[in-house]
Amino acid sequence: AAAFTGGSAAGAVLGLVDRSPDGRSEQAAGAVSTPGRVVPFRGRHQAGIITPAQDRLVFGAFDVVTDSAGALRDVLDAWTIAAEAMTQGRSVPADDGSPQAPPTDTGEALGLPPAALTVTIGYGPRLFARFGLATRRPSALAELPPLPGDRLDPARCGGDICIQACSDDPQVAFHAVRNVTRLGRGVVVLRWLQLGFGRTSSTTTGQQTPRNLMGFKDGTRNLRADDTAALDRHVWIGTETDQPWLIGGSYLVARRIRMLIEAWDRASLSEQERVIGRRKVSGAPLTGSREYDPPDFSAVRAGELVIPSDAHIRLASPEHNAGRRMLRRGYSYTDGIDLSTGELDAGLFFISFHKDPATFIAVQRILGTQDALREYIVHTGSALFVCPPGLQDGESWGRQLFG
Ligand code: HEM
Repeated sequence: AAAFTGGSAAGAVLGLVDRSPDGRSEQAAGAVSTPGRVVPFRGRHQAGIITPAQDRLVFGAFDVVTDSAGALRDVLDAWTIAAEAMTQGRSVPADDGSPQAPPTDTGEALGLPPAALTVTIGYGPRLFARFGLATRRPSALAELPPLPGDRLDPARCGGDICIQACSDDPQVAFHAVRNVTRLGRGVVVLRWLQLGFGRTSSTTTGQQTPRNLMGFKDGTRNLRADDTAALDRHVWIGTETDQPWLIGGSYLVARRIRMLIEAWDRASLSEQERVIGRRKVSGAPLTGSREYDPPDFSAVRAGELVIPSDAHIRLASPEHNAGRRMLRRGYSYTDGIDLSTGELDAGLFFISFHKDPATFIAVQRILGTQDALREYIVHTGSALFVCPPGLQDGESWGRQLFG
């Protein structure tokens, strides 16, 4: 693990000594206690998409408030340097190290290992209407249309740029978004921010399937990082795009889906299992006995479909959607209480990655009108971004976007 190489410029500015809690130097702590937890920042694809889902999420959507393409480009270049450093467990490098200036790193991640931090960037549709970027916009990138099941709060929708920070340590993920926000001052402002916990999807074969806040295993039939043919087919932008600079990237859909937890908790176990189409404890489809048994959508018992016609796993399945699949990488969230009703504001911050966002739209049109789950959820936030491919050595986000 290359954690904490390079020391901490901000630590020097702050007058802090880089120490892990047990007093060992950061370098030793990084090497000993977090082997293998540095996720490479550069590569063919951005990290944070097929990276094994970390436990925590901080997702920020930004509006660009400058009219200067140069200023935006400079911020994206500064973000590249900062993101790369932070994912390696280093502090945001100082510009001049002047003790009179505010510290270049806010400091709350000093002494913490990077905990598999990934920082993933995406660009929203409206960004490409400005800064001379119209010729760089892929035609597949447009605001998501109104969809059935929407009860959207505009304050939780859209954005020109997103930063998805994932880490096994919540403070490390928060630190990443906080520091890019600070570096972008005067050029970008945070539009909305979502914290997530308890990844709701496994994205590799080795990961155990976690449970969402409805208590069901989530991710059983998700796309897997080792299924490269399926990823090329469903997740990575390929030569079909009208913007070759985006090949190797992916479209990110974010949906804040509130669960009507009180109603769900009053539903019987058999009702809950019919809604999902799976057993709650084992995760097995109603037609099987083990989690990974393939669902049999045609099975009938006593004249009734065993997996009901409106079960979530039937309507979301590739079998029901002309073979369409997606990579889900969502997190649970809770934002306290909805003061208007006294009910919990909690649910799923759904994130999915697509070669073409039309897949999400098609599946959600079906789910939003027919899914039995729709009695228990409302979609309250929504955004679409295109994530560019990974950066090569020497490349920066600013240069990549502006060409
Ligand atoms: C599967 C829960 C929203 C797409 C599943 C499964 C659960 C689940 C428990 C079965 C396990 C698995 O294969 O992963 C939920 C909950 C949601 C939600 C609680 C909302 C709060 C959505 C949305 C979409 C979606 C909005 C996309 C528009 C899928 C897909 C599958 C799936 C594609 C896999 C189907 C298959 O390949 O068989 N979901 N889901 N889900 N869900 Fe959802």
